[in-house]
Amino acid sequence: MRQKLVVGNWKMHGSRAQVRQLIEGVATGSAGLSNVEIAVGPTFLHIGLAAEICAGKGADHLKLAAQNLSAEPQGAFTGEVSAPMLAEYGVNYVIVGHSERREIFAETNQVVAAKFKAAQASGLIPILCVGESLAQRQAGTSAEVVLMQLNAVIEAAGIAALQSAVLAYEPLWAIGTGKTASKEQAQEIHRVLREHIAKSNTAIAQSIRILYGGSVKAANATELFSQADIDGGLVGGASLKAEEFVSICKSAD
Ligand code: PGA
Repeated sequence: MRQKLVVGNWKMHGSRAQVRQLIEGVATGSAGLSNVEIAVGPTFLHIGLAAEICAGKGADHLKLAAQNLSAEPQGAFTGEVSAPMLAEYGVNYVIVGHSERREIFAETNQVVAAKFKAAQASGLIPILCVGESLAQRQAGTSAEVVLMQLNAVIEAAGIAALQSAVLAYEPLWAIGTGKTASKEQAQEIHRVLREHIAKSNTAIAQSIRILYGGSVKAANATELFSQADIDGGLVGGASLKAEEFVSICKSAD
């Protein structure tokens, strides 16, 4: 039985005061939930603060997720943050291959795979995002696109690396648009991903968690999370409001 996981991707949002308010709200609201695993994903700058607030609240059920990392462990890479640095701050998960990184920051499949490996080398669990554009969906190539993105990482890191990783299916046309994939559309791609992994390793296919991301909100979380191959959510906009995010977590509990 896979434990559901809900991760808040705060993107480039939040002041110190907002981080405090949000974490306190999520910590309190989710205190009684025992089945779902929950992670919050502030900016690099706010990770230390978030860890302090969680510790102060005794909220050790809240995990920390980073939104990105460098593929390099250290060195002359101005503006970058490495996996060992994140690990030292108690970060558990790190998002790799988010479509905003792929599109805006031109991260290739090779870069994504290198970041995936760097995360695991420091004991972080990568959340590997895959997803197709609207044009690709309309062309009927959604499955092909996500499998190509997944294969790039399998080729670089090996199938066994998926044992300590999370996948997230995030169709680009659903991110930040308010337009969610239907539960059938999401389930279909999740099934394709899991069946693909099963061809190489059935145990990993059964245990790996595949999150859905793209306009997840309180109103659609329950129907998405009730699909056979959907193991939780990667939540952007709706993770910035404590009440809404807690309600999504409850749907996964
Ligand atoms: P959204 O973002 O929930 O605001 O659509 C999801 C994501 O980008 O991870």
